[in-house]
Order: sequence, then C-alpha cells, then structure tokens
Amino acid sequence: MALYSEKVMDHFRNPRNVGVIEDADGVGEVGNAKCGDIMKMYLKIQDGIITDAKFETFGCGSAIASSSMATELIKGKPVSQALELTNKAVVEALDGLPAHKIHCSVLAEEAIKNALDDYYSRHPESKN
Ligand code: FES
Repeated sequence: MALYSEKVMDHFRNPRNVGVIEDADGVGEVGNAKCGDIMKMYLKIQDGIITDAKFETFGCGSAIASSSMATELIKGKPVSQALELTNKAVVEALDGLPAHKIHCSVLAEEAIKNALDDYYSRHPESKN
C-alpha cells in the first residue's frame, strides 16, 4: 500500500488556497518545535461566515496537504463550525496520514484556532 493516499498527493502537488489575505480578519501562526515546520493561516470573515481562507506553510508535504484540505473544509462555513474542526476530520478528509505524520494535521487545526482567536480579539462583540 502506498504510504500516502491519492488525496494527500493531490493536495500536496496542487495545494488549494495558498497565499496571503492582506486584509485578513484573523491570522494564526503555529509551528512544531520538533520538525521546525511553520504554518500561517489567514481568514476573511463576514457576518460569522468564513468567506475566504488562505495559508502559507513552510513544511513537509503532509503539512501542506493538511493546510490545503483544512482551508477547503472551513471555507463558506460558520465560525462556530470552523472552531470545531479537528485534526482527525482533516486526516479523514485526506483518506489518512501515516502515524508519524499525524502531527502535521494538528498544525492545521491549531493554525485555524489561532486565527479565530485573533479574530475574536479584534472583534470581541462577535463572540456572543
Ligand atoms: Fe512536522 Fe509535517 S513533519 S509538520
């Protein structure tokens, strides 16, 4: 069996939503001290809906595939739903990751949560 699923390879080779949102409403950056990979997530939010999501990932193929899939999963969704996105959901959407690459998907979950924290700190009124 191949180490990486076709979906992982597809999102690694043709990552969706790569880039920067200059006027983002929330930005989150996380890193993994062990492997040194860094992920930055930009969110555009309007009326509680994530209208756009982009990322920059300086990291391994699984981290790139995870960021790509994670942005696809939250685009067009309410903030409340994005907050509930787990790394497990990202892994499932990618048809699995090898055990030693699970932490790459955790970066995606954390980057989104950080970006949403940033959004809430800029817009405390939207927490209610
Ligand atoms: Fe660390 Fe992939 S090896 S994020």
